[in-house]
Amino acid sequence: MNSLSQLKQALLENRLEHFMFLGGGSNVLFAKDYNGLIIKNNIKGIQVEHEDIESVYLKAYSGEVWHDLVVYCVNKGWGGIENLSLIPGTVGAAPMQNIGAYGVELENCFVELEAFNLRTLEFEKFNKQACAFGYRESVFKRQLKGQYFIYSVTLKLNKHPKTNIEYGDIKQILLDAGIQPENASIKEVSNAVIAIRSSKLPNPKELGNSGSFFKNPVISVDHFEQLKIRYPEIKGFPQSQGVKVPAAWLIEQCGWKGKRVGETGSHAKQALVLVNYGHAKGEEIYQLAMDIIKSVKEKFSITLEPEVNLIG
Ligand code: EPU
Repeated sequence: MNSLSQLKQALLENRLEHFMFLGGGSNVLFAKDYNGLIIKNNIKGIQVEHEDIESVYLKAYSGEVWHDLVVYCVNKGWGGIENLSLIPGTVGAAPMQNIGAYGVELENCFVELEAFNLRTLEFEKFNKQACAFGYRESVFKRQLKGQYFIYSVTLKLNKHPKTNIEYGDIKQILLDAGIQPENASIKEVSNAVIAIRSSKLPNPKELGNSGSFFKNPVISVDHFEQLKIRYPEIKGFPQSQGVKVPAAWLIEQCGWKGKRVGETGSHAKQALVLVNYGHAKGEEIYQLAMDIIKSVKEKFSITLEPEVNLIG
């Protein structure tokens, strides 16, 4: 689909019964064949809506490739999304799950989005509050699931950016490259993020995967304290509702890291990434995910929740 009028016409004529939208498809697992029409979003364009001395308000259409938008901004010197470099998928999918990485989430520079209401066939605007962003969450994954088509996203970017280099290895990678972390440009931070991602996360074009398959679970403080007695090395990140623990660690402790089951497996460098070695069917990946959920539940009494969108 290259324009919304094609979709509107089809909806008006009631020609569409069972359909779904696909951006890049990088965060979707088809556990079964989809019995309906899959509409591939190809609506492209990036434009400055408004700017002042400090900021640029940039509108990107939903079929744009997310990383292309990051590169566009980095090359212009506009900061805000450089830590989200190399995340697969499209601009339209970004607010759907409030993409996040290396200490930054989309919501940090999100202004608003335009969405097409599939029932009324009208456009509606959603500001940050209306999107109800959470950790890999938004209203479009929950209450409004399947009711809207995200058409464009507007971000506020900083012309005099302050970099965010606190997460994980970013500082070390900069130092290794002879760059003083505090003086790093957004391009250098973007390159550091690309280096980290490339070293841990398999390229989906080379080895099928959807990034993190599960969310990092948030458990109660009591539960965490109990686990800490048995597993003193467990990491925990305090949150308002409890403690977030790394799903990758839980999966690794259950012996899944690097394990291959038929044509599927947990990645050797990042246990949270489930991979397809080439010929696995969606249902086989699904089965592996269920087996992992079961063993983590048995060992830690924690129920992992998939981060990818499961179809079927
Ligand atoms: N760890 C392990 N075993 C592993 C990998 C990691 O024990 O195999 C532990 C380490 O202790 C590490 C901790 O897990 O300190 C966290 O690992 P990492 O920094 O790689 O991050 P993550 O929590 O596994 C999250 C996001 C990623 C994002 C990275 C960096 C989720 C579900 N995943 O992964 O997002 O790139 O942080 O910010 O929140 C994605 O959503 O698809 C995705 C790749």
